[in-house]
Amino acid sequence: MQITILTGAGISAESGIPTFRGTGGLWEGQRVEDVATHEAWLRDKQFVLDFYNQRRQAVKKAQPNKAHLALAALQKHHHIQIITQNIDDLHERAGSENVMHLHGEIFKSRSERNNNLISICNDDINLGDVAEDGAQLRPHIVWFGEEVPMLEPAIALTELSDIVVIIGTSMLVYPAASLLHYAPEGTPIYIINPQIPDMQKKSNYTFIEKNASDGVEEFIADILKIN
Ligand code: OAD
Repeated sequence: MQITILTGAGISAESGIPTFRGTGGLWEGQRVEDVATHEAWLRDKQFVLDFYNQRRQAVKKAQPNKAHLALAALQKHHHIQIITQNIDDLHERAGSENVMHLHGEIFKSRSERNNNLISICNDDINLGDVAEDGAQLRPHIVWFGEEVPMLEPAIALTELSDIVVIIGTSMLVYPAASLLHYAPEGTPIYIINPQIPDMQKKSNYTFIEKNASDGVEEFIADILKIN
């Protein structure tokens, strides 16, 4: 049985990483749309680099929480495929093996000229740091308006789902938010979020109105009953 887990910023909130659209905003009052775009990059590369350098430092200090760990433990019993919008590595550090990042990874950088020149990046990126083609390094992140190269593989994996669980995402960013529609008709869909996103409830949907760690615990208890 394949359980496909779609995660967003809310799953990392209990690890101390702020969500994008929560109260207080993400970063000194900046809306993510104002820094996570190619236009912002062209306008002020230092500003964008500072933003992501700060994110990288914050992720380094964070630890996987009970939700990340419980999902990793579930691998012992089921085929678990995680598709995350998050750029942090907390699923991997919790021990999850099948993790696909839809929006890129904070611990990778790439050439601003060639999307395929990707390298590991554990420290700050500075102006003047270049890729092997001599172009400025930028974070390996999908910005608003850019293509989502992992979308097709994510759709293909979602089509194989026996159960889909959606955790901690506002479901406001497309195409990520449309992924659940690729699950086979009638697939049980669980939505875990302390503030359930505005969506039409279908008969195969179960809303678990809780934070990620409590919600994942409830979901696991639920599927253990089935199996
Ligand atoms: P958002 O910040 O839009 O939404 C976070 C969701 O997490 C909200 O629905 C909250 O109710 C929920 N939440 C908050 N605390 C939670 C907790 N403890 N447990 C579970 N859920 C909790 O974040 P995303 O939906 O991930 O893209 O945002 C999608 C994309 O927008 C991001 O990947 C990012 C951003 O622009 C890029 O950077 C390209």
